[in-house]
Amino acid sequence: MVCGWLSVLGLGKNKNSSPEVDLYKSLDSDKLPVHIAIIMDGNGRWATQRGLPRALGHRAGVDSLRDIVRTCSALGVGFLTVYAFSTENWKRPAEEVATLMDLLAEYLYKELNELNKNNVRVKTIGRIDELPVKSREALAMAEKETLRNTGLTLNLALNYGGRNEITEAVKQIGRDASAGKLNPDEIDENIISGYLYTAGIPDPDLLIRPSGEKRISNFLLWQVAYAEFWYSPVLWPDFRKEHLLEALVDYQNRQRRFGGLHQSKR
Ligand code: IPE
Ligand code: IPE
Ligand code: MG
Repeated sequence: MVCGWLSVLGLGKNKNSSPEVDLYKSLDSDKLPVHIAIIMDGNGRWATQRGLPRALGHRAGVDSLRDIVRTCSALGVGFLTVYAFSTENWKRPAEEVATLMDLLAEYLYKELNELNKNNVRVKTIGRIDELPVKSREALAMAEKETLRNTGLTLNLALNYGGRNEITEAVKQIGRDASAGKLNPDEIDENIISGYLYTAGIPDPDLLIRPSGEKRISNFLLWQVAYAEFWYSPVLWPDFRKEHLLEALVDYQNRQRRFGGLHQSKR
């Protein structure tokens, strides 16, 4: 399995001793996270450090996304949810918001072939109806054109906020309860999960935040209840497969207990 990964991930067979290859070799293919969530942060700082406009940091961040999507796909990860625009990001200057929206559409049109080649299905979470029409059209196109793909699901969190998601779910639960479609006494965690944007998608196993920040910033508040967190000082435009790999190796060395005891202590 590892040999297969090495070729799919573009690591030459002869590069047997590079640190990256060593990391791959230490991965256990049976213990990969099914769902990885990433807060793609640090684009602005990356640009500022180079004396560039913030927009170029966002543009550089697209290369990281491409690399990480490719890597997750090659490894056989089931779901990758990336935080691309939060409900709070509207507070930024209109010009920066417009750049982010343009980049999204550009990414989707440019990457469509590669996404299809890698059997990646595109989905979204968030209040998509409030995005500019150009972004909505690009998203609808990408979702439609990748609908039949059965590999990695790339879940784009756009105009997404965890509190907003829960608020919307509560409203809909209220409506369904008053319409007699739902018995309030039967509401349980599974029913609530089914009202979220992520309905049908397993909770993230691993949450990655680059850029040195150690906060959740309103991302997947309900879903990360038992996710493993991994932080890195690397800024998102510098984040590549070797960083993902480090996160995966670290993840595989953790003991997930879900409130119980580790198996060996039972
Ligand atoms: C993440 O990078 C991109 C979005 C939030 C859309 P930032 O733009 O937040 O970069 P920093 O945190 O200012 O460096
Ligand atoms: C979180 O990053 C949102 C995205 C990456 C899309 P922010 O840069 O907006 O978060 P804060 O403001 O540092 O918490
Ligand atoms: Mg930021």
